[in-house]
Amino acid sequence: MSKTESKMQFGSKIGLIAATVGSAVGLGNIWRFPAEAQSNGGAAFLLLYVVCMLVLGIPVMLAEFSLGRAGRSDAFGVFRKLSPGKSWWLIGVLGIVASYTITCFYAVVTGWTLEYLFHSITGSLYEGIAPVTAGGDFSVADAGFQAKMAEYISTPLAPILFTWAVILINMFVLARGVEKGIEKLSNILMPMLFVVLIALCCVTLTLPGAGEGVKWFLTPDFSKITASTVINAMGQTFFSLSLGMGTLITYASYYPANTRLASTSGIVAAMSLVVAVLMGFVIFPAVSSFGLDGHSLVGTTLVFQTLPEVFACLPGTQIWSILFFALLFMAALTSTVSIIEVTIAFVHNKCRISRVKATVLTVLPLFVLSSLCSLSFSTLSDFKIFGMTIFDLLDVFATNILLPVGAIFICIYLGWCAPKGLLKNELTNGGTIRSRISGTVMFIIRYVAPVMILMVLVAPLFK
Ligand code: TRP
Repeated sequence: MSKTESKMQFGSKIGLIAATVGSAVGLGNIWRFPAEAQSNGGAAFLLLYVVCMLVLGIPVMLAEFSLGRAGRSDAFGVFRKLSPGKSWWLIGVLGIVASYTITCFYAVVTGWTLEYLFHSITGSLYEGIAPVTAGGDFSVADAGFQAKMAEYISTPLAPILFTWAVILINMFVLARGVEKGIEKLSNILMPMLFVVLIALCCVTLTLPGAGEGVKWFLTPDFSKITASTVINAMGQTFFSLSLGMGTLITYASYYPANTRLASTSGIVAAMSLVVAVLMGFVIFPAVSSFGLDGHSLVGTTLVFQTLPEVFACLPGTQIWSILFFALLFMAALTSTVSIIEVTIAFVHNKCRISRVKATVLTVLPLFVLSSLCSLSFSTLSDFKIFGMTIFDLLDVFATNILLPVGAIFICIYLGWCAPKGLLKNELTNGGTIRSRISGTVMFIIRYVAPVMILMVLVAPLFK
C-alpha cells in the first residue's frame, strides 16, 4: 500500500456510517420513493421495497463492502489487486464511467435544489403567486408555480450558475480528503437532515385531514402489484442504496479493519428506508389535507410545484420552504460527493498525484459536461439523440443500463471468481467475529441477485 493510500480512512464509526448513509440517502429516497409509492399501491410498494432491500439490496451492498475493504483501493484498483493479470478491472472502469455520467446530471438537479433554496430564502419563489386556500381551486397557483419552474430551470444561465456552485462546493469538500472532507460534511449534514425531516413530519401530520393521507399510505393496495411494480421496487432499491457503480467499493476501502460490515449494511439500509417512509409521512398527509390528491407526484412536479403549493397554504410559508429545500440540498450534496469520489480515488491512485490535484482534474470537465445537461432544458431542448435530450440520455444510459450491468458483474465476480473465502473473511473481520449470514449472502450473490438484476435490465424491452 502506498503512503497516500494508507492515510485515507474514516476516522470514526459514526463518521463512516454518516458518510455511507449520506451517499445512500439522496434524491432517490426523497422524490423518487413517494412517486413510486403513489403509482404502485402505497404500502404494498413499501412492503416490496423492504423485501427487495433484504433479499437484494443488503447482499449486494455487502458484496461491494467486502470487495472494497479487501482490496483497499478504488473501484478499478480493487479488481487489479484481487485478481492481477485478469480483465476483471473492466468492472471498475464500468463503475467509474457510470458514476461520472451520473454526476453530470445529478449535479444539475442538485443545482435546482440550491436554486429553490435560494429563492425560498429571498422569498421570490412565492412572489406574485395568487393566494391558495386548502381545498380550493389550485389551477391559478398551479400555473404560477409552473411558470416559476420554467423560469428557474428552463432558462440557460441561472441553473448553470447554481450547478457550478454545487460543483465548487463538491470540489472544496472533496479536496479536503476523506476524513476532513467527506466525513466531516456528513457528520454535520446527516443529523440536520433527520431533524428537519422530523420537524416537517410533525407539521404535516397535524394538519386537518392528514389522517386520510396516512391511511392511504399505510393501506396496501395489492391489486396494484404487477411484474413491473416488482421491477420498479428493485430499481428503486439499487438507486437508493447507491449500488452497482463502485461508490460503496470506494467508501468501504476507507473502512477500518474492525468495522462490522453486516451491521453497517443493516444500518445504512434501515436509515435509507426510514427517510423514504418519513418522506411519505410528509407528502401524503399534506396533499390529502389540501385536496391535492389528484396532483401528480412525479419527481420534479412533486418537489418543485405540488410541495410549494402546500407550503403556500401553511402559515410560515417561507420557513417550511427553506427547511424543505435545505433538506433536499443536504441529501443531494452528500450523494454527489460520494459519486464524484469514485473517480477522484481512481485518478489519485492511478496517476499518483496528490488528492487536491486529482480532485481538480476530476472536477474541471464537470463544469462543461453538466452545463450541457442543464442546457437540455433550454437552448438544447431540441437537440435529441435516440429521441432523448442529453440529460435524459445520460440518465437512462447510466441508471437503467450501466448500473444494473455493473451490479451483475460485481455479483458474478464475487460469487464465482474472487479469491476463495473473501466474503466470509470480510464478514467475520478475518475470523475475529462470528457471522451467521455469510452462507446466505453468498447464495444470493451467486444465484439470486444476478437473475433478479437481469430482470430489471431487460424489463424495459418488454414494455
Ligand atoms: N443513492 C443516491 C440517491 O438515492 C444516489 C446515488 C449516490 C447513487 N451514489 C450512487 C445511485 C451510486 C446509484 C449509484 O439519490
